[in-house]
Amino acid sequence: MTKPESKLLAEVESAREQFQAEIGRVASRNDLEALRIRYLGRKGLVSRFFSQLAGLEPGDRPAVGKAINELRALVSGELEKKRREIEFQARRETIFDPSLPGTLFQRGRKHPLLQVLDEIVDIFTSLGFSVETGPEIETDYYNFEALNIPPDHPSRDLQDTFYLESPYLLRTHTSPVQIRAMEKQRPPVRMIAPGRCFRKDTPDATHSPMFHQIEGLCVDKGVTFAHLKGVILTFAQKLFGKEVRIRFRPSFFPFTEPSAEYDFSCIMCKGEGCRVCKYTGWLEISGAGMVDPAVFGFVDYDPEEYTGYAFGMGVERIAMLKFQIGDIRLFYENDLRFLSQF
Ligand code: PHE
Repeated sequence: MTKPESKLLAEVESAREQFQAEIGRVASRNDLEALRIRYLGRKGLVSRFFSQLAGLEPGDRPAVGKAINELRALVSGELEKKRREIEFQARRETIFDPSLPGTLFQRGRKHPLLQVLDEIVDIFTSLGFSVETGPEIETDYYNFEALNIPPDHPSRDLQDTFYLESPYLLRTHTSPVQIRAMEKQRPPVRMIAPGRCFRKDTPDATHSPMFHQIEGLCVDKGVTFAHLKGVILTFAQKLFGKEVRIRFRPSFFPFTEPSAEYDFSCIMCKGEGCRVCKYTGWLEISGAGMVDPAVFGFVDYDPEEYTGYAFGMGVERIAMLKFQIGDIRLFYENDLRFLSQF
């Protein structure tokens, strides 16, 4: 008759062999869990072996106990290994299954204002202009004084802005970048400056307290108003097509002399007269002129040696014309139904 300890030992041994055969056949998480319960569960084999151990002679227990512990370690180690294999396989299948439909995601696009701004910048860089930037929080000096607009000058009224702690304010135009660019370098200067500007305007269909301008400045020996007209005409035609004509009307800016407002022939009606151009045939774009010698005084350029022209333009205005947008506020609402049209 076999002694109880050898009988238990043999059972443990055959359980081990049994387990090794079974683990090889496990193919799913469910198989794995069933196997775990059968061996390691509260009423599982290992636990049963331990309770049988208690019935053995104390002297026989250590050897058999050691075998059961080894079985338990083997089972839990193998189960863990198998679990990882199954997880890995499952993940591999979800990642690499080429028959699954792809994940569709919405593609963003450039904001219509930025599209127009980039297009204008491209045109001027192709004409040899460099791109400068300046701060949106400016000082009174750069925004006004160095542009020949002294503290009590009435033209400040047209450009009321948001004042921060003195001397800071939100710039009302991109013209201060003219001064900053000229301070940094000697002529020749040929630059544009795109950027955000601010004025204390109540929002309506054509006004916004925040908007974008692009400034242009060219200073060299022998620069004339004819160069200004040539550059503006080239720009107008590159942006809106060969048939566009330009015109200059006398105007006033403290930092240019002579000063002008420039218009493009209406791109909707080709100058015939329509609602967009208010039946004038012309679209007002912005101001321009020859750099006032007083401005050169602020940046230490000799007005006897150099002349220059400067111009500005509103990016919103041009984008509204180009895309036929009737209300400037649409640009800032970030409504995808609007933005996705461009
Ligand atoms: N800075 C002027 C404005 O915002 C436009 C301008 C720029 C005029 C350059 C002349 C020369 O109204």
